[in-house]
Amino acid sequence: MNVSVGFIQPKVRFGNIDYNIERIESLLANIDSFDLIVLPELVYTGYVFRGRDEVIRISTKYNKKIIEHIKRVSDIYSAVVVAGAPEYQGDKVYNSAYIGYKGDIIDTYRKLHLFYKEKIWFDPGDKPLKVYDFRGFKLGVMICFDWRFPEVARILSLYGADIIAHPSNLVFDYAYDVALARAIENNIYVVTSNRVGVDNRAGMRIRFKGLSQIVSPKMEVIYRGRKYREDAKVVEIDISLARDKMATKLNHLFRDRRIEFYTPLVNRELVEELDEA
Ligand code: ACM
Repeated sequence: MNVSVGFIQPKVRFGNIDYNIERIESLLANIDSFDLIVLPELVYTGYVFRGRDEVIRISTKYNKKIIEHIKRVSDIYSAVVVAGAPEYQGDKVYNSAYIGYKGDIIDTYRKLHLFYKEKIWFDPGDKPLKVYDFRGFKLGVMICFDWRFPEVARILSLYGADIIAHPSNLVFDYAYDVALARAIENNIYVVTSNRVGVDNRAGMRIRFKGLSQIVSPKMEVIYRGRKYREDAKVVEIDISLARDKMATKLNHLFRDRRIEFYTPLVNRELVEELDEA
């Protein structure tokens, strides 16, 4: 049960959708085939917006072009493409990952845990976590700061995800290590795609590092992307490794959970009590 999975790690220029598409295309030109490719969070637009109005203006102007591009790549490669872009719908705008498959957009994942000023720019995700069953592998999606909330990867894994696609614009160095933890604790592959380039606007300057990574269920970094430079990589992975949830001969990762002791996890009052303490 081998599948080929990878990432594109392009240099992104804020607001220059044509340039960003050209960079993605140029990196794709080195790749013959894949079953799944992951692109970064907000890869077509850039990350640091001046405000919500700007997200809406850019999405209104470019989303058709962005969606057409995702569809086209998934069609050409007859494969799955996960790519980050704003999703403007009704009066809401989400930080989403589009899931393209063989020429169609089959769904979007709307980032559940918005980071810092994203809370001003976007609406929080409002759709349940979901796993997609493709030929040979099951895929879950989370976006960047979702790594900080282990429940996301856990739920996707309980739904059967073999691989989590993780489009990112990482700002904390420890996020890379935490992705390794998400892989071992759930016995899954995690493909983090992190952009390079600088967003220097609206009083913020972020130089994105790259260092995208493909992590195995054994917590090994199968491949790490270059630092501050563009990169792209596809590797063959064995899905059966993610299906065997035995941590030892006597320990099943999911069946051994003592869920009767976990109910505080869904008790909001505990947090209120902490605030009052
Ligand atoms: C992030 O969630 N883009 C830090």
